[in-house]
Amino acid sequence: MKTYKIGYFVGSLSSTSINRVLSRALIRLAPQDLEFTEIPIGNLALYSPDFDNDYPPEAMELKDAISASDGVLFVTPEYNRSIPGALKNAIDWASRPWGQNSFDHMPAAVIGASPGPIGTAVGQQSLRAVLSFCNARQMTAPEAYVHYKPGVFTDQGEVTDDSTASFLRDFMQEFRIHTERVLTVIPRS
Ligand code: FNR
Repeated sequence: MKTYKIGYFVGSLSSTSINRVLSRALIRLAPQDLEFTEIPIGNLALYSPDFDNDYPPEAMELKDAISASDGVLFVTPEYNRSIPGALKNAIDWASRPWGQNSFDHMPAAVIGASPGPIGTAVGQQSLRAVLSFCNARQMTAPEAYVHYKPGVFTDQGEVTDDSTASFLRDFMQEFRIHTERVLTVIPRS
């Protein structure tokens, strides 16, 4: 069976992140042929073009981890109706140096959870615009705006509500199909 390596970003640095819990749930519910590796973002300095001739090890590890992935998944909160700074910083690192954009043609999907009813919808629009410029091949449907309610997720990522579990399972199944489709047309070199 062909397996796909999925690198995933958690857009929150919070030790109590609900988006990290959501990432655990997604991994539990995903098809068996997806293998997940977290791509850390909390150890990166703030990006500057001054680093372009000599990327630090953490930034090289970030780019290598993306290159080693067949697809990338963003599980992120919305901060002030936009992308959390730590995640945007990681994307900026990965997109450079000029001509070495790690996201070029990369299968990608975006999902996020918020205690508010909009469920990161506005933040995801910001993220999608950035990923579009980075030439990532985004899954456009289904969209997934998770209104995080107490009791629906355990800390370990078990989902206690059947309809939520079914929705998230479908999302990951569609991401698997999307990844396979993109890689069929644009194989990763
Ligand atoms: C937030 N939060 C928030 N929620 C939302 O629905 N829309 C928003 O624009 C914002 N903005 C925002 C900015 C900042 C700086 C913080 C710290 C928080 C609330 C946010 O959704 C909530 O704290 C989540 O728990 C964040 O996700 P994690 O870190 O728990 O994964």
